[in-house]
Amino acid sequence: MPSRLSQPGQGILGTFSLFYLLLTQCCSVSHGKAVIRRPKIISPKDNAAIAAQGSGCTITCVARSSWPDFHIVYWLADNNFIEDKFPDGRVWEEPERQSAGQTTEKSLVFSSVEEKDFSVRFCCVVQDPSGADIRNISLQRGPQVLTSPPERSHQETPQPSSSDTRT
Ligand SMILES: *[C@@H]1O[C@H](CO)[C@@H](O)[C@H](O)[C@H]1NC(C)=O
Repeated sequence: MPSRLSQPGQGILGTFSLFYLLLTQCCSVSHGKAVIRRPKIISPKDNAAIAAQGSGCTITCVARSSWPDFHIVYWLADNNFIEDKFPDGRVWEEPERQSAGQTTEKSLVFSSVEEKDFSVRFCCVVQDPSGADIRNISLQRGPQVLTSPPERSHQETPQPSSSDTRT
């Protein structure tokens, strides 16, 4: 007997569950505002922020919450509150700023990035009655910010190298 054709139930069940999945997904989308979404960190998207040692740096966390008045966005450094990790105030959090589309911004400001900051695990956390979201962010060494234009801008000039000894 053809074994594949004798099991039509799985196919129907599979089709049905796919249909059910689509139906529930569509419904949750179509309700729109009625759905309470879990809070979510929208940016930074990747888990690293570029910073240069000795320079100032600001990392802005953008989080979305369905609870305009009952949410909190904050930063942690190695699981400590920022003011506990940096009692000298070299690194601080700015107050929350409401931005468009149920999003809130919370900036972490470094007056001057130090070497040890590159090994600290920073987290942005958003919490509200429907849950929480956490994003790990570490500092990555970037180029020093140039405050004046570079002396030489002849980028087309080939750099002399030790291999140019043939004559
Ligand atoms: C953040 O990093 C810690 C330690 O590496 C890890 O245990 C945790 O799962 C990470 N959390 C997220 C949300 O990536």
